[in-house]
Amino acid sequence: MNAWCALGFLWLAFFCHGALSCPALCKCYSRRAEVVCNEVPLTEYPSEGLPKNTTMLTIQFTNITSITEEHLKATPLLQGLHLYSNHLQHLSSNLLRGVQHLDTLDLTGNKLTELPADVFSHALLRSLVLKNNLIEKTDADWLLDNSSLTWLDLSGNHLRKFPTALLQKMPHLENLDLSNNRLETISANSLQPLAKLERLNLQDNKLDSLDASMLQSTRNLTHLFLSRNKLSKIPQNLFQELSQVRILSLDDNQLSHIPPGSLDQLSSLDEEGLDLSANPWLCDGKVEYLWRWIQKNKKKIFLPETIICASPESLSSRSVMSLTGSELNLQS
Ligand SMILES: *[C@@H]1O[C@H](CO)[C@@H](O)[C@H](O)[C@H]1NC(C)=O
Ligand SMILES: *[C@@H]1O[C@H](CO)[C@@H](O)[C@H](O)[C@H]1NC(C)=O
Ligand SMILES: *[C@@H]1O[C@H](CO)[C@@H](O)[C@H](O)[C@H]1NC(C)=O
Ligand SMILES: *[C@@H]1O[C@H](CO)[C@@H](O)[C@H](O)[C@H]1NC(C)=O
Repeated sequence: MNAWCALGFLWLAFFCHGALSCPALCKCYSRRAEVVCNEVPLTEYPSEGLPKNTTMLTIQFTNITSITEEHLKATPLLQGLHLYSNHLQHLSSNLLRGVQHLDTLDLTGNKLTELPADVFSHALLRSLVLKNNLIEKTDADWLLDNSSLTWLDLSGNHLRKFPTALLQKMPHLENLDLSNNRLETISANSLQPLAKLERLNLQDNKLDSLDASMLQSTRNLTHLFLSRNKLSKIPQNLFQELSQVRILSLDDNQLSHIPPGSLDQLSSLDEEGLDLSANPWLCDGKVEYLWRWIQKNKKKIFLPETIICASPESLSSRSVMSLTGSELNLQS
């Protein structure tokens, strides 16, 4: 409440609840219907005083701990809600019932652990960012069927189980980021409903194997990130349907071989689009496929000289690319 309003003149009442209204500690930009509360000592969501026509609201670096359906009802035209780096621990069920036009919800950097049923139902959300929270498990009942989401970011949480049931509700998803979690396995048909998926980020998890049919339905994938897992094998047909892939990262895993033929479908790779570095390649006779593929596709590999033999001892530290035909034959 600003000083003008405190005067309490009747003729000012209009301004206090209309054009000039703005929550204490926040900045209101009325022409673009935007409100920003940045790094201020708020401990509660500032419903009071928010202009009713607010479409864009940013509350960041404050101490608010919860948000409810009632809070959001104050701004029924809201389209973008950015709640970066607060102390949010609780979101109410049916949170979005009063903000049906909400398109983007960003909850990055809070302290969310569990979320209630229908927390993201009701609005036609396209982008949901839950990055860097403390979420251990996802639930299919967060959303209704046929969710409009095209962008889901759950990176930097504590997920151990792949969110298979939740993803069944997202046939329109184009971008899925699950990097930096604790995922160990992905069941064969987890990605089956995601025919529109273009980017899949699974790096920095604990995946040690992948099912051969896992990527069968995601034919529009252009970016696939699998760096820094524990993969020791790639199924031969894993990339079979991925003719659109431009970037594929497999670096920092435990790969010793690539099955013959497994890279053949990757005809759309960008220059330097494939990263195979920091794996313990076994340079026996079975490395021949990789060796030939590198000779033919050198430009498509990111730092090809960093694809290095870990064994046998006689070739250790040599780059696969530098091996001669006779060295390969000698080892076979
Ligand atoms: C929002 O409402 C305020 C006050 O009623 C008005 O001054 C402002 O122009 C409106 N903004 C938009 C973008 O409609
Ligand atoms: C949040 O609370 C902590 C202590 O409770 C305080 O030190 C900090 O300044 C507060 N942050 C803001 C932005 O008010
Ligand atoms: C699913 O949602 C899309 C848009 O979000 C809509 O066009 C389509 O009709 C819906 N399908 C069903 C079966 O409800
Ligand atoms: C895949 O991409 C193509 C070209 O961008 C597009 O026409 C097609 O509809 C996409 N397929 C799906 C299932 O979204």
